[in-house]
Amino acid sequence: MFRSFSAKLLEVRELTPKEKLFTLRFIDPHLNDGFTYKPGQFVMVDLRGFGEFPISICSTPTRKGYIQLCVRKAGRLTKYMHELREGDVIGIRGPYGNGFPMEIMEKSKLLLVSGGLGMAPLRSVLWYALDSGKYAEIRLFYGTRSYEDILFKDEILNLLQHGQHMNCYVKLSYEIDSPHFSQLKSNCPQSVCKGLVTDLFEGEELDAENTYAIVCGPPVMYKFVVKELLSRNFSPGRIYMTLERRMRCGVGKCGHCIVGTSSSIKYVCKDGPVFTYWDALSTRGLIE
Ligand SMILES: Cc1cc2nc3c(=O)[nH]c(=O)nc-3n(C[C@H](O)[C@H](O)[C@H](O)COP(=O)(O)OP(=O)(O)OC[C@H]3O[C@@H](n4cnc5c(N)ncnc54)[C@H](O)[C@@H]3O)c2cc1C
Ligand code: FES
Repeated sequence: MFRSFSAKLLEVRELTPKEKLFTLRFIDPHLNDGFTYKPGQFVMVDLRGFGEFPISICSTPTRKGYIQLCVRKAGRLTKYMHELREGDVIGIRGPYGNGFPMEIMEKSKLLLVSGGLGMAPLRSVLWYALDSGKYAEIRLFYGTRSYEDILFKDEILNLLQHGQHMNCYVKLSYEIDSPHFSQLKSNCPQSVCKGLVTDLFEGEELDAENTYAIVCGPPVMYKFVVKELLSRNFSPGRIYMTLERRMRCGVGKCGHCIVGTSSSIKYVCKDGPVFTYWDALSTRGLIE
C-alpha cells in the first residue's frame, strides 16, 4: 500500500538474549544522505512478503549516514528479523510520528526515565542531547531487571561512571542481584540501587521548573513515574511520554491506533507516539 525504500543491514549485534541492534543504510545514496528524523520518531520495517511493523529509531540524527533499530524478539515478524544477517536487505518507510520537541526543550534540563525496552527511543534523545550540547543538564534514570537485560550496556555503564564530564548523570536500578551490580554499587554507590526505577528518585532534588521529564517504558511504569514527578511539582505539560499501540499504516489512514472518545480522538501514529501528560489526562485510554 505504501512504498518502502531498500536498506541494507550493515551490522547486526546482539544486545541481550532478546534484543538485537540493527544498523542500516539506504541503498539509494541520495536517500541515505537526505534521511532526517527526530528522536522519538519511528519507522515501519517492511519484511518484503512477510509484513510490516513499527520500530523506534534508536540512533541520533546528529550522526548521519546510517540508522539503528533495537528490535526485541516478540512474535512472528520480529523473530524473522532476528534471523537476518549483515548484507540482507529490508524495506524502510518513514520516519513517522511527531517525535520529541527537542528545540522547545533546549537550554533546559532533561530528566530521562526509562524502563526495559523504553531505553531504545530514549537512547536517541540521550545521544542527540549529548552531541548537540544544547541542554543544561541530562539525567537518566534507567530501570532494568537483570544485568543481562541492560540495553546498550557499554554506553550506559560508561556514562554511569564518567558521564559527569559531559554534564550527564546516570542512575541505574535493578531487580535481580549479580556480582556485576555489587561491583558497580561499590564504584558508584549513589547511582546504583536494587529496586524499581521509581526508587532512583529517592534523595534527588529535581529542579521541576527548569526540567523536562521524558518517560518511556512498559505501560505499568507510567502511573508510578508520573506520580513521582507530580509530587515533585512537575507540571503535566513538562512530562513527555512515548506510547505504543498496535499499528498498521503508521500515517493516520487505517484507524488501528485510535484512542480516546469522540470529544478527543488521537491517532497514536500521527499525533504521537510522543504525548504530554496533559494529553493523557484529556484522552481516555492513552495511558492505563
Ligand atoms: C511506535 C512504536 C514503536 C515501537 N518501537 C519498538 C522498538 O524500538 N523496539 C521493539 O522491539 N519494539 C518496538 N515496538 C513494538 C513492535 O512494533 C512489536 O513488538 C512488533 O510489531 C511485534 O511484531 P511481531 O509480528 O514480531 O509480533 P506479534 O506476533 O504481532 O505479537 C507478539 C506479541 O507482542 C505484542 N505486541 C505486538 N505489537 C505490539 C505493540 N505495538 N505494543 C505492545 N505489544 C505489542 C502482541 O500483543 C503479542 O503478545 C514499537 C511499537 C510501536 C507502535
Ligand atoms: S496506524 Fe493506521 S491510523 Fe495509526
